[in-house]
Amino acid sequence: MPTKQQGADVPRGVFVAFEGGDGAGKSTQANTLADELTSAGFEVVRTREPGGTPAAEAIRAVVLTPDYAGLDPRAEALLFAAARSEHVSRLIAPALARGAIVICDRYVDSSIAYQGVARGLGVDVVTEINMWATGGLLPDLTVLLDVDANAGLERATDPNRLEDEPESFHAAVVEAFRQLAAAQPDRYLVISAAQSRTAIADVVLEHVRGLLAARSVL
Ligand code: TYD
Repeated sequence: MPTKQQGADVPRGVFVAFEGGDGAGKSTQANTLADELTSAGFEVVRTREPGGTPAAEAIRAVVLTPDYAGLDPRAEALLFAAARSEHVSRLIAPALARGAIVICDRYVDSSIAYQGVARGLGVDVVTEINMWATGGLLPDLTVLLDVDANAGLERATDPNRLEDEPESFHAAVVEAFRQLAAAQPDRYLVISAAQSRTAIADVVLEHVRGLLAARSVL
């Protein structure tokens, strides 16, 4: 499904990221969307952050293990960005170049919300590191599954070092995502995670179909 963008003469796929606090249900929704689009005949690359390539998955193990409680915040931000750089150059960019639909669980805005805002490193520096790490690649659409921090943490499984942070940290993450979405309404689709899984999946699919149609892919 090649599309042309910005006058470039190369195929360019569609990049969809799912964002939200812990326990928002991103993985389930990303899987459902991937299944729908695969059934419709598209090449879909379903991936996640931190991770997505062997080296980035190795970084994931380091940055998420509760064994390194108190990991230096700058090291934490750089590890997420390092994993992302590898992920973009080895998996995401090549997939987009061949015209695939990339569906990613978390991306740069997670670093801005968690490290930039909740960890207090600052939005500007975290944005700058990540623009350098990714060559400025941003999603065509970011789906924010909006859930209050306490509700999300109750639903979260598979504990990691970030989930062990206090509720105030997670409340800051949720608020940061809301502000990022409000500042970029063209790139964001905000959906309340309190709705049923099917209702959420329907809204996401309809929106992505609209995006594909606008790109003359459907
Ligand atoms: P994961 O188990 O994938 O959590 P979830 O299912 O909630 O997505 O763990 C990812 C954790 O890493 C999550 O707590 C958010 C955090 N994170 C950051 O702090 N910065 C980042 O840039 C990314 C990608 C994730």
